[in-house]
Order: sequence, then structure tokens, then C-alpha cells
Amino acid sequence: MPKGILGVPACLFADCLYWNNWIPTREFERSEETPFQPKETRLACWLSFCAAESLVTCPYSCKCNSDTLEVDCSGLGLSSIPFDIPTNTRTFLFLNNQLSSLPGQAFSNLSALQRLDLSNNFLDQLPENIFRDLVNLTELQLRNNSIRSLDKDLLQNTVLLCQLDLSINGLAQIPSGIFDDLSSLRWLSLRSNRLQSLDRVTFEPLVSLQQLQVGDNPWECDCNLRDFKYWMEWFSYRGGKLDQLACTLPKELRGKDMRMVPMEMFNYCSQLEDENSSTVLDNIGPPCNKGSPAAPKPKTSPETEEEPSVVCPQKQKYRPVSVRRAIGTVIIAGVVCGIVCIMMVVAAAYGCIYASLMAKYHRELKKRQPLMGDTEGEHEEQKQISSVA
Ligand SMILES: *[C@@H]1O[C@H](CO)[C@@H](O)[C@H](O)[C@H]1NC(C)=O
Ligand SMILES: *[C@@H]1O[C@H](CO)[C@@H](O)[C@H](O)[C@H]1NC(C)=O
Ligand SMILES: *[C@@H]1O[C@H](CO)[C@@H](O)[C@H](O)[C@H]1NC(C)=O
Ligand SMILES: *[C@@H]1O[C@H](CO)[C@@H](O)[C@H](O)[C@H]1NC(C)=O
Repeated sequence: MPKGILGVPACLFADCLYWNNWIPTREFERSEETPFQPKETRLACWLSFCAAESLVTCPYSCKCNSDTLEVDCSGLGLSSIPFDIPTNTRTFLFLNNQLSSLPGQAFSNLSALQRLDLSNNFLDQLPENIFRDLVNLTELQLRNNSIRSLDKDLLQNTVLLCQLDLSINGLAQIPSGIFDDLSSLRWLSLRSNRLQSLDRVTFEPLVSLQQLQVGDNPWECDCNLRDFKYWMEWFSYRGGKLDQLACTLPKELRGKDMRMVPMEMFNYCSQLEDENSSTVLDNIGPPCNKGSPAAPKPKTSPETEEEPSVVCPQKQKYRPVSVRRAIGTVIIAGVVCGIVCIMMVVAAAYGCIYASLMAKYHRELKKRQPLMGDTEGEHEEQKQISSVA
């Protein structure tokens, strides 16, 4: 990508071209801060000729680098996002500040942004549309905030996202569907949150994922986590790296890595499900929520624990697009096969009826002309007998 074109506005005046330092301008001073004296006379030039490009302002007291198109507002004790971030900014760093809330429009004009770092702030909620315009975002750091919940559609448009850090927050659950559009995501951290369980279908769209961090969460290794264990096994099988998922509950499994818990420990889940298969409306509480876990069997040897002997039925929950499509294909194939089968049965029946009718017809034909048929037969028999003799 040509650096110069994006780095410097299309202002052709020589003086303006030197305007690469992104010197803070008077307009963006905060009233409580000491006035800043713009010494450069170029400022006037820039304001008059280049302002229309809106490319080269640098938010007050932030550091800007016009080569890398990086705006760094870290560690300034700021409690709000500057409103004058240049629209061609590729990297925006806002670490170690006092940010506790974000207006919905905070990043609305930054569609060139590739890297956004809001780590070490005090965010507790993110507006649903906050990242809507960041279509080129590849790295999003939200480490060490106080985020307690995420909206399902939060990452709908950030389809190029490669790296997402949500560690050290207060997340108690990850909504289904939030990762549906992140097929490019390679690195994801959910470390140090309050997660007790994860849903398998939430993670299935992450087809490029290579590394997942889930450590330091109060995992409940019960039926709710069983399907996710299947996903983890598949993820490890295709080479994904996962840190430790250590169980906190039930007591018998405390401190054990979920991946090392044999699948047989979850057999009771299927039984519970069978017992009340009538509860299809299990959006909030999966059936085996309150069921006490079966008494732990003596540990099986590591060799036997790999084979998932029980096929657990899929629950009627949110399904990703691929699964829905696959189900559609199966249904269509079933219908077509059914039609073909019916046609074959009809054809066979028709054939049988036709054959029996023809046989009957021939028999009756013979009865009506007994002499001709019989004499011919006798003649032939006599010929055969004579030839044998
Ligand atoms: C974004 O840009 C549009 C037009 O380019 C402008 O009207 C709007 O005020 C900008 N929004 C923000 C938050 O800067
Ligand atoms: C996003 O990235 C693509 C490809 O790198 C580029 O063509 C496009 O201009 C970028 N969008 C913006 C708004 O910068
Ligand atoms: C998290 O952020 C707070 C406030 O910014 C800071 O004091 C603390 O050291 C950070 N913790 C970690 C583990 O980074
Ligand atoms: C199904 O399981 C749930 C949760 O364990 C329980 O509350 C409910 O009573 C059960 N329903 C039936 C029909 O057994």
C-alpha cells in the first residue's frame, strides 16, 4: 500500500507537504489544560488548504506518526475518546486511560482503522454499533477492562479481525452468534473472566482460529460444557492451541483440565436429556443444569479416554449457518429419495399387475383355442420322441 498517498493529504502546496508532525492545534485544546501556542506559521497554511482533507489533525497531547498512521493517546488519564482522530488513522492506541464509557459514534468515521487498543481502561459496556464502521479492523484489544456483557452483533462488520483480546474482564457468558462473521480470527483470548460455560455453536464459525486462551475462569465441568469439550477435541485435532481449561466445579473435578476428563463422565447427561426430552425450550437453562453429577467412576486409563463412546444428541439450540445448510441439504435429499422410492414401488406394482394380467390373458387364450395349441404341442413331442429314439 502506498504510504505517501494516505500519509500526506493531497494538498499540493510545498509548505503543507512538510506538515507531517501532526502538531497539536489550538482548536482541540481542553479548557482545563494549559493553552498551547502554535509556533509554526505553517498552521495557517494547513488550515486554509488542507483542512478539507481532514487527514492531518492530531488529537491534543496525543502522539501521531504520519508514516505509520498511528495515533497514540496512551497513559494520558483521558476519560473520553478524542473526537478529532484523523479518518485515515490505521492504528489507534488508547491504553492506560480512564475511559469508562463510549459514545456509539466514537469510531464512526475510522473505516481505515486496522488496530485498536483500548486495554487497561474501565469500560463496562460497549454500545452495540461501536465497531460497525471498522471494516478494516484486524486487531482489537480490550484487555483489562470491566466488560460484563457483549452484544451478539458487536463484531458483525469486523470481518477481517485476526486478533481479539477480551482477557481480564467480567464476562460471564459469550452470546451465541457473536463470532459468526469472524472467519479470519486466528487468536482469541477469554482468559481471566467469569465464564462458567461455553457453547459449542458459538465457536464453530471460527474456522481459522489457531490459538484460544480460556484459562483462569470458574469453569463448571458439567453437562453444559460437554458439547464444548467435543469442540475442543476437534480444535486440538486440527492443530489449534488451547491453554488450560481447569474445572472449578464439581468438587470431584476441581483443578482438573476438562480435556483430561474422560467422556464417560458425561454419560449421565444423555440420560437426563432422555428423561425430559420434552423441554425443547431450553434457551436459558439446559436440561441437566441442576442434575447432580454422577459419582465419579474410578479413573480410566488415558488410552481409553479418547474414544467418545456415547453419541450425545444435539440440542435444539442456535445453529450456525453451515449446520443449518447441511440440515437443509439432508431434508431435500430425503424428500428426493422418498419420491424416487415411491416411483419405484409404483413401477414395480404396475409391472406385477401387468405381468399377472398378461399371464391370465394367455391362459384364457389357450383355453379358447385348445385344439390348435394342443395338436402343435403333440406333434412337437412326437418329433422329439422319434428323434431321441
Ligand atoms: C463522520 O463523517 C461525516 C461526513 O464525512 C460527518 O458528517 C460526521 O460528522 C462525522 N462523524 C464524526 C463522529 O466525526
Ligand atoms: C480497507 O482495506 C482495503 C484493502 O486493504 C482498502 O482497499 C480499503 O480502501 C480500506 N478501506 C478504507 C476505508 O480505508
Ligand atoms: C488493569 O488496569 C488497571 C487500571 O488501568 C491497572 O491499574 C492494572 O495494573 C491493570 N492490570 C493488569 C493485570 O494489567
Ligand atoms: C428437565 O430438566 C430440568 C432441569 O434439570 C428440570 O427442571 C425439569 O423438571 C425436567 N423436566 C422433566 C419433564 O423432567
